Amino acid sequence: MFTPAFYESTEVLAQYLWLHYAAREDVALLNGIAGGVLNFPERCVNELLGALPEGRLRALDVGCAVGRATFELARHCEEVIGLDRVPQFIETAERLRARETVLYALPIEGELMQPFAAWAPDDVDVTRVRFEVGDAANIRRDIGEFDLVFAANLICRMMEPIRFLSRLSGLVKPGGLALLTTPSTWRQIFTPRENWLGGYEGEHGPVRTLDGLRELLEPTFVLERRVDIPFLIREHARKFELVIAEGTAWRKR
Ligand SMILES: C[S@@+](CC[C@H](N)C(=O)[O-])C[C@H]1O[C@@H](n2cnc3c(N)ncnc32)[C@H](O)[C@@H]1O
Repeated sequence: MFTPAFYESTEVLAQYLWLHYAAREDVALLNGIAGGVLNFPERCVNELLGALPEGRLRALDVGCAVGRATFELARHCEEVIGLDRVPQFIETAERLRARETVLYALPIEGELMQPFAAWAPDDVDVTRVRFEVGDAANIRRDIGEFDLVFAANLICRMMEPIRFLSRLSGLVKPGGLALLTTPSTWRQIFTPRENWLGGYEGEHGPVRTLDGLRELLEPTFVLERRVDIPFLIREHARKFELVIAEGTAWRKR
């Protein structure tokens, strides 16, 4: 069953720093495709964001890991909270928010390591951002309402995704947005099968994750956009895992 320890190794921390902050010049072997697969959180925000309400806006990034999307949301919203249950991610995101350059390393091959550096985007006002440790299935009641709630690749990593999704309509203000992405990698080690949103044969045929999302969200949200968003997880210099997340933007009625 799910244990947050999966995300607590130095190796996974480095993979997420690379996923969120790698620069194109760091990955010469990916020339030609790098623009389409690097900096996944930045592309998620840019590709999913629709019209936002006027005024002083609040956003919440649930399952923020090392915080790149949280920083990107601060380009559009005056107050952004990044929340994750893994303290190591939140501590690292907090160092980036404090304008520290975070050094990390990933394998080149075998025991050879390649050094990298990550920093928060220079042109983002980091004073708009704050990070906190928290559980998406049990978000603190006094957190308030948001114009935008963002959750990238979270739901198929949660034990009880439905608890988070049922809470969404209370978190998003009327007219606001919920932006979700998921690769729909349903695995029992993260999510007991009875809690999967899709990926199984139902009474009336195959149930896909988007079907599960529609059933849960359509009473209070309208599906505004659906996009495919590719990204790479680096294992070593010549081996990457290509994942294509399904991104959906939901407008609260
Ligand atoms: C697959 S990673 C995605 C990270 C980031 N959003 C991204 O797109 O790169 C899933 C993240 O969700 C976090 N997570 C999993 N279950 C959670 C929960 N119940 N509450 C808060 N965060 C959770 C993990 O710690 C991890 O950072």
